[in-house]
Amino acid sequence: MKIVLIGYMGSGKSSVGKKLAAVLGIPFKDMDDEIEKQEGISIPKIFLEKGEIYFRKVEIEVLKNILSKSEGFVLATGGGTPCYADSMNFLVKQKDVVSVYLKTPIDVLTTRLFSEKENRPLLAHLKTEDNLNDFIRKHLFERGYFYNQAALTVENGGESVNETVEKIILKLF
Ligand code: S3P
Repeated sequence: MKIVLIGYMGSGKSSVGKKLAAVLGIPFKDMDDEIEKQEGISIPKIFLEKGEIYFRKVEIEVLKNILSKSEGFVLATGGGTPCYADSMNFLVKQKDVVSVYLKTPIDVLTTRLFSEKENRPLLAHLKTEDNLNDFIRKHLFERGYFYNQAALTVENGGESVNETVEKIILKLF
């Protein structure tokens, strides 16, 4: 089984994905790590030196490459992965892929992301928590169109990683 976690930055895709993969006994893959490995520089540097359009091009290539592998895995995508280059449509058409949207309330995302925004090129310019909250609200409204096409949706607000993993497993099997 190929499980693809999607959701906004800070929704817990990597921490939940790692634990879910360990529980299921299958490999964990992280799109951002794969992109950084392939490009040999960090995500913020890719945005800075090559721009977002270049990043999105690499992102879809890496997604398709990972999905072409035959063995099962849990994949944590980047927050924007399903929202560009018809990727969500591509994902839902894959017979062996289950997409899972980790849905997190805006206020939780804001608190989590405020301390980590320097690592996220799309957020680094936002000065205050209010600015960040406004930005996330609008961005999530746009991106929700894609996220909501996932096969499964699991709330990941105040829950622990273990609780969220348990909820995903209950929905999967
Ligand atoms: C992005 C999310 C990031 C990373 C890049 C762009 C986005 O991944 O791919 O900074 O467009 O939402 P995370 O969701 O893992 O932070």
